Amino acid sequence: MSEHIKVEHRGAVQMIRLDRPEKKNAITRAMYVAMTEALKAGDADPAVRCNVFLGVPGAFSAGNDLADFLAYSTDGAHGSEAFDLLEALARSEKPIVSGVDGIAVGVGTTIHLHCDLTFATERAWFHTPFVDLGVTPEAGSSLIAPLLMGRQQAFALLGLGEPFSAERAKACGLIYDVVAEDELEEAVFHAAERICAKPPEALRIARDLMRGDREELVVRIREESRLFAARLTSDEAKAAFQAFMTRKKG
Ligand code: COA
Repeated sequence: MSEHIKVEHRGAVQMIRLDRPEKKNAITRAMYVAMTEALKAGDADPAVRCNVFLGVPGAFSAGNDLADFLAYSTDGAHGSEAFDLLEALARSEKPIVSGVDGIAVGVGTTIHLHCDLTFATERAWFHTPFVDLGVTPEAGSSLIAPLLMGRQQAFALLGLGEPFSAERAKACGLIYDVVAEDELEEAVFHAAERICAKPPEALRIARDLMRGDREELVVRIREESRLFAARLTSDEAKAAFQAFMTRKKG
């Protein structure tokens, strides 16, 4: 349970909302647990036909809580919560639609690689500064992003850590569509309802075919997770987390 994850059912749609606006929806360990539980519960519930991920106005998510990363880098207090969510996403049984307004950093971007349709507003931007933080790509992104976007765009995203605008994200296949801010939730919900109206078994088979081998993805997520965890204790990462936590705001 986390007060920062709100789960709501609208008909056959399960809405999972990140709701920690004061920290730009930075994701804590409790939030990962709550999202994993909701996703698995939705997959197990025959009344749910589609899962939806949403943030708050201006922030889908600022990524993993850097205070948690800093704690791990100094005292090893890291759990498997993030990786449990990533595996649940990789193994998800039902279509996932997401909506992004504003920032989508780190896992706030890579989560959408596991979604079937992602809508973003014009002011959305996608940023994975893993290397700049001294860490490495996660969430299966090193496997999915090159397939989805081509090697060079994937390198710009995951290697150079270039922020991608919504338009650029759409042009390279990272997201499905760009909509106005006041139309985002309606667009997401409408897409989810269209999914719910399809014959579920045929859609499940079609989705499984398109997503390919889940085991290969899970193996990659585990390999990335091992490397990521090792990098968290590196001097490069410690310095980057410390710099963020102690920065002075202008
Ligand atoms: N972890 C922990 N706290 C975070 C956070 C994160 N990932 N991202 C933002 N916050 C907190 C800030 O510390 C600040 O808290 P405070 O008001 O108590 O000082 C609050 O959220 C608002 O963030 P702020 O930086 O003031 O907002 P902004 O609009 O100026 O900038 C970002 C937004 C996302 C660009 C900036 O916060 C940022 O770069 N965050 C880190 C993103 C990141 O590196 N994530 C990890 C990826 S692996």
